[in-house]
Amino acid sequence: MTQTDLSTSPYLASAYANDRAHVFHSWSAQGALAPTVIAGARGSRMWDDKGHSWLDFSSQLVNVNIGHQHPKLVAAIQEQAARLCTIAPFHANDMRGEAARLIAELAPGDLDVVFFTNGGTDAVENAVRLARGHTGRHKVLSTYRSYHGATGTSITLTGDPRRWGNEPGAAGSVKFWGPYLYRSAFHATTPAEECERALEHLAAVLMVEGPHTVAAILLETVVGTNGILVPPDGYLHGVRELCTKHGIVMICDEVMAGFGRCGEWFAVDRWKVTPDLITFAKGSNSGYLPVGGVVISRRIADTYRDRVFPGGLTYSGHPLACASIVASIGIFKAERIVEHARDLGAQVIGPELQKIMGRHPCVGEVRGLGVFWAIELVRNRKTREPLVPFNASGADAKPMAEVMAACKAGGVWPFSHFNRLQVTPPCTTTAEEAREGLAAIDKALEVADRYCEG
Ligand SMILES: Cc1ncc(COP(=O)(O)O)c(C=O)c1O
Repeated sequence: MTQTDLSTSPYLASAYANDRAHVFHSWSAQGALAPTVIAGARGSRMWDDKGHSWLDFSSQLVNVNIGHQHPKLVAAIQEQAARLCTIAPFHANDMRGEAARLIAELAPGDLDVVFFTNGGTDAVENAVRLARGHTGRHKVLSTYRSYHGATGTSITLTGDPRRWGNEPGAAGSVKFWGPYLYRSAFHATTPAEECERALEHLAAVLMVEGPHTVAAILLETVVGTNGILVPPDGYLHGVRELCTKHGIVMICDEVMAGFGRCGEWFAVDRWKVTPDLITFAKGSNSGYLPVGGVVISRRIADTYRDRVFPGGLTYSGHPLACASIVASIGIFKAERIVEHARDLGAQVIGPELQKIMGRHPCVGEVRGLGVFWAIELVRNRKTREPLVPFNASGADAKPMAEVMAACKAGGVWPFSHFNRLQVTPPCTTTAEEAREGLAAIDKALEVADRYCEG
């Protein structure tokens, strides 16, 4: 592995200064930023311009599922660039057709038509548009503790504080509580109880909203950023039944959970549930190029056989992005990456996290599957008081900032959100790399232990 990939870049030396002078960053007060200059990345590791390197345990924004700079994926993009860089969405194209065919083949049930987008948020926007057109209804139900994207409808449907700065949002959004046993909204004490009560709650919300006014129920199959909330067995089936009963479109947002992250092609496969629409993006090509999409059931696609679908994008089905999806799916299959992610979670990450929990009073719960795990940090295991308050910032967030600094000093860069460290390495991470990164997290958690009471 070379650590000098960008050393020949004429712009590396001025990267930081140019960033601070001219780059406007997402979700940030611009003055407070001091971004790390990443000089290169390979597999599960990345490094900066000063010789520091880290295991990328957040897969950037939980999207680099295949690892950094997979040579076959890079080559496929280079080959496609030499063949045909771009073509309008109204033409047919070999790579777009093949990418759609492959995704349809992997998707469950009658989901066999794909609308390609530029990323995750527009996948959600268009899934909602499809559902509204199909049902002739407007309302969409989504959960608290969710993220669906930063554009108009997606941010309105998002159930986390990123919505607050965007309110008032679009009309027709209703929120409900999804299952989260550790902090149960239903006072449940077992997964079965949580499942039953969460479904009763959803049925009650539907009753008072008027199910005949609801176009779709949108949920992350496994909630990602907001806590890696794995639904209890039976929950997704229950939502499916409610949707079928009331003619409501079930949309599973798998922008983060899909393409290997949960040790399945699609996370719904784990529970053998077939929604009506699945959104995807990140892991479908590991973010090597921007892309996303909606996998559409034949029934919903047929709604638009004679009726015009009122949506489109200049880059829908971009050939470079589609070539990267085709190559990525091929590599996943050849290298058995989905199976590897499943085994890594079951045999290494899960058991190691349990051991870590046993060693640290600051760990309230560990949960997850595949390469999708959360470590929930608390000040007190009995009361479950979080290490930092909900949506903490500034001085309130200091304990988490210190834990993250200790992780980075130890050579691992996990994902951090509220009071949680989230362990989401590439699906291709080896068992040795996983152990190495978890050992660094283990050590870093001593910082959090100091904040524990009793
Ligand atoms: C579940 C989910 N949906 C949608 C999105 C939005 O995707 P994008 O940032 O590509 O627009 C994200 C991004 O993190 C996500 O995690």
